[in-house]
Amino acid sequence: MDKQRLVQTAQALVAEKKGILAADESSGTIKRRFDSINVESTEENRINYREMLFRTAGVSDFISGVILFDETIRQNGADGTPLVKILTDNGMIPGIKVDKGTVALPGAPDELVTEGLDGLRDRLNEYVKLGARFTKWRGVINISATTPTPYGISVDAHALARFAALSQEAGLVPIVEPEILRDGDHSIERSFEVTEETLREVFEQLAQQKVLLEGMLLKPSMVISGGSAAQRAEPEKVAEMTIECFKRVLPAAVPGVVFLSGGEPDDSVTSNLNAINQLAPNVDAPWQLSFSFGRSLQGAPLAAWAGKAENVEAATVAFFTRASLTSAARQGIYHKEKSAV
Ligand code: 13P
Repeated sequence: MDKQRLVQTAQALVAEKKGILAADESSGTIKRRFDSINVESTEENRINYREMLFRTAGVSDFISGVILFDETIRQNGADGTPLVKILTDNGMIPGIKVDKGTVALPGAPDELVTEGLDGLRDRLNEYVKLGARFTKWRGVINISATTPTPYGISVDAHALARFAALSQEAGLVPIVEPEILRDGDHSIERSFEVTEETLREVFEQLAQQKVLLEGMLLKPSMVISGGSAAQRAEPEKVAEMTIECFKRVLPAAVPGVVFLSGGEPDDSVTSNLNAINQLAPNVDAPWQLSFSFGRSLQGAPLAAWAGKAENVEAATVAFFTRASLTSAARQGIYHKEKSAV
């Protein structure tokens, strides 16, 4: 394991002003995204859409790296150039989602476990040859009256640490993603409690499995009210509770946090990220607090594109705009009113 290279890559992914584009939708997820704009999920459409994002001029001022899906890392663009080369030529670092999605956890109704550890070492070595420099694995935690259970949290944390250790062995920076779903009407206090318990267990497992904290990134949810809660906490409260929670459980050696957007509306997720970055210097938060958004970077360009070649320019502008606003929020200089177009 080349520790120095891991540390350098992790730091580059959370370089000043920059964060990550999550473009690693699985076949099922990209089909749902395309369904929402009435576009068929053919291989050609998937390539055209993703190539358009990756070629966006100047977007590497805001986007450090892109997480790809297994299919995408092997594909070529319209002129035959590999999509990975298009990305690197445009100044971004290629990464790869390596989990194989979730299945029901036996003996635990309403809880999930993530699959994909069998054969992972070989897959990682292949991804290195295909140009990947970092990896992602997503564990899913559901908040309800009866979940998560300590059992559910522990299997997710164990798998995340197995994945992270194997990634670092292969020279790849792991992005450890324990996603706490926003679904439900729970309070922000409940989100805090579950986030604290989950991250505590994740970092316990990462330590046991000898993961180099300096050479990884954490991709968590923000501490927020449930999506259907009657009273949803304001960005200032989200910032306060998110950082307070992290201070309890997130070691300072981890260079950065790259939040997921989780289906939260663009406005809200951008304001929350902005509030977090406004508060961070005042409370000596030791980590970069950045983003690894899927929906919040892609919703606008996807809608503008609608599968039509004549919309490529408008969609590119929409993607660039979302990336620049998200970068502003990552620096704590986002102005919601000024950005309204
Ligand atoms: P969202 O930002 O849409 O939640 O996607 C991020 C991601 O990579 C989820 O695994």
